[in-house]
Amino acid sequence: MIKRSNQDSALSLNISMTERFSTPSTPLRSNRPSLPRPPPMEPRLVLITGCSSGIGLALAVKLANDEQKRFKVVATMRNLAKRGALEEAAGDALNDTLEIKKLDVCSDSSIRECMGSIPGRHVDVLINNAGVGLIGPIECQSIDDMKGVFETNFFGVVRMIKEVLPDMKRRRRGHIVVISSVMGLQGIMFNDIYAASKFAVEGFCESLLYQTMNFNIFLTLVEPGPVVTEFELKVNEEAIRGDYSKTDLETAEMFINFYLKNTKAIFSSLGQTPEDVAEHILRVITMEEPPFRHQTNQVYTPVTALKYADPSGELVNDIFYKLVFHHDTLMQASLRAIKLIRWKAHKVQQGARMLGLI
Ligand SMILES: NC(=O)c1ccc[n+]([C@@H]2O[C@H](COP(=O)([O-])OP(=O)(O)OC[C@H]3O[C@@H](n4cnc5c(N)ncnc54)[C@H](OP(=O)(O)O)[C@@H]3O)[C@@H](O)[C@H]2O)c1
Repeated sequence: MIKRSNQDSALSLNISMTERFSTPSTPLRSNRPSLPRPPPMEPRLVLITGCSSGIGLALAVKLANDEQKRFKVVATMRNLAKRGALEEAAGDALNDTLEIKKLDVCSDSSIRECMGSIPGRHVDVLINNAGVGLIGPIECQSIDDMKGVFETNFFGVVRMIKEVLPDMKRRRRGHIVVISSVMGLQGIMFNDIYAASKFAVEGFCESLLYQTMNFNIFLTLVEPGPVVTEFELKVNEEAIRGDYSKTDLETAEMFINFYLKNTKAIFSSLGQTPEDVAEHILRVITMEEPPFRHQTNQVYTPVTALKYADPSGELVNDIFYKLVFHHDTLMQASLRAIKLIRWKAHKVQQGARMLGLI
């Protein structure tokens, strides 16, 4: 009897799960809400964090200048003294489809103040873009510096989502985008803390996803590879000024003479522009069914897939270790070749554009 009743309850659970997830309105597919999007005529309010430079600035400008006027952009930054670059790039969109507001993702009061200034606190799309980097041997980094990275990259995202989620749940509509990184999927040497902060973001979003699905809210992790922005400059400048006396000579040399040199080559061979990444984000937020994960740089897809090919981790660790410590010359040569191919492809594209072929 007990067995039967267990089976019954298992069956009824099964039926209710099947009903829940396989009806036409909520088919079995991740991240697909059932309710229609707002009418296309009504611009969606997009709030972006970290718009003083880089991806945030490029995205704010792109969305605000949308020919179809699909967006009202609230471009936020923690320090309004840095608004000049965005104001200049926004052109006529400034104070029309683009409004600049102060928001520090590390400050509850700053977030509340900004949200309170938005009519009805109504945000259709939240883009969590603000982020900071930290590179180098961990022996040379203070715990406070590490906490600072988590405060911005992880808790900053959590704070923002906590702020918009109740309203999105009430309306059963909305899209939350988080700019993660391929380093949220695969750790890279000397990026221990930065990668950990992005892994934290990935785990947080993976867990939150089931709730957001239930409330018909989209959630997307955008995972760029290297992007040529101030981000790289800032972390490299800090790294060059760094004090490496707290680590051994071998590690310090590995970081300065190997890591920093190779990072430069990687950015110049594989780096995307912030405008490229902004184009990807535009595509993601205008999709009928936005994906949960979106990588912006195809070169990195096989790299991030490696760890799933071998759950023991041996395959990916072995490849990375050998690439770094035994095949440095091969890596440099490959990067140079990729740079050349990309340059040629760019020239062909330019030519085709001039001839009106694309
Ligand atoms: N560049 C890359 O290679 C790369 C690759 C993968 C992912 N990403 C991610 O992409 C996002 C954007 O980075 P980016 O490359 O565009 O770098 P960026 O040019 O340095 O932009 C980062 C932005 O975040 C802002 N910010 C930092 N702390 C903040 C805070 N507490 N509150 C509000 N804003 C804050 C910065 O403002 P300030 O000017 O005031 O510092 C700046 O506007 C980050 O989340 C980053 O992790 C970057």
